Amino acid sequence: MPSSLSSPVLYRAVFSTVFKRMDPEAAHHAVVTGLQIASAAGAGRLLERKTRPQESLRTEVLGRSWPSPFGLAAGFDKGAVAVLPLGALGFGHVEIGTVTAHAQPGNPKPRLFRLVADEALINRMGFNNDGAEAVRARLVRIRRRIERLRDSGRHAPVLGVNIGKTKTTPLEEATEDYLMSTRALAPVADYLVVNVSSPNTPGLRQLQDIESLRPLLAAVRAQADESAEHYVPLLVKIAPDLADEDVDAVADLVAELGLDGIIATNTTISRKGLVTSAEAVESKGAGGLSGPVLADRSKEILVRLRERLPGSAAIISVGGAVSAQDVAERLDLGADLVQGYSAFIYQGPFWARRINAGLARIRRGTRRG
Ligand SMILES: Cc1cc2nc3c(=O)[nH]c(=O)nc-3n(C[C@H](O)[C@H](O)[C@H](O)COP(=O)(O)O)c2cc1C
Repeated sequence: MPSSLSSPVLYRAVFSTVFKRMDPEAAHHAVVTGLQIASAAGAGRLLERKTRPQESLRTEVLGRSWPSPFGLAAGFDKGAVAVLPLGALGFGHVEIGTVTAHAQPGNPKPRLFRLVADEALINRMGFNNDGAEAVRARLVRIRRRIERLRDSGRHAPVLGVNIGKTKTTPLEEATEDYLMSTRALAPVADYLVVNVSSPNTPGLRQLQDIESLRPLLAAVRAQADESAEHYVPLLVKIAPDLADEDVDAVADLVAELGLDGIIATNTTISRKGLVTSAEAVESKGAGGLSGPVLADRSKEILVRLRERLPGSAAIISVGGAVSAQDVAERLDLGADLVQGYSAFIYQGPFWARRINAGLARIRRGTRRG
């Protein structure tokens, strides 16, 4: 691939002349379709030669080998329709979902907005997805292909599955809803995430209260053990808006239940720290805010969790990471893995490749120094 095609300058030009003028959700679908077409045309193997993470980035976490510590956060590929093409861009893992037990359309459009000056996004997608059974069928096929790729020494991403509650299921029946998804999806997941932190499903974040979270996580753990033939690591994804004491309480619960880790963090309902005018921000309406504005709180929570959690529990840090330096910093602060989403929109398709190359350089420099 000519290096100009992977240049951030070229992508910036495409972004500002094409994507910026498109509705963000339409642009998202166009990109996913493009990836699918490129993959079907056999571009995966070609891409992989340029984008495959350096072998020095291989990381052992949660009892398995990850091609890179950097992966794609939940929400980009909710329905697992582009896992392998996304892997071929260099992501070490792809977390699909959030998937709910029942298919649902999500909130009315428009529901995704860019704050370009902040390189941020506001979304109130509301878990639009095809439901656990439909996604399971796709993942069965994808896993077969991932295994073939691994067997032939090719790059294949680790596959995370993020589950949430169906909107119409009352909060009191949330556990059964999560269990339906667990039964369908744990058998096809490399790791499973209980998402209780999206701001776009009414009441969902109340499940972060310890008295609700304990039985929910214990039940999902037991169900995953019963449903899957292999051990499926279980993590919980938390909001950046939790008070510090509540972050500590979730960490203690994860330790108490012997769960595998925490993903921190989801989007925020705060609108602080933006350079976009308050009026413009307000015009977008409700939703979760993501991007660099999240970075400070996400790092604060990471440090707090690392101090509080046993070493055996993994932390996946997410929220505002843009550069290889940002990813290296999270790893230095104690993250086992790092994810991102918003910067993918602003940095373009070769973002993961640049992060991996930068990380490998930083590590070589550190070893020399
Ligand atoms: C459009 C959009 C949709 C998202 N959907 C989900 C989702 O379905 N489940 C989830 O756990 N997180 C979801 N997220 C949150 C991201 O996974 C991530 O936690 C958050 O965006 C912070 O990372 P970032 O600053 O790198 O974007 C979504 C984020 C965006 C921007």
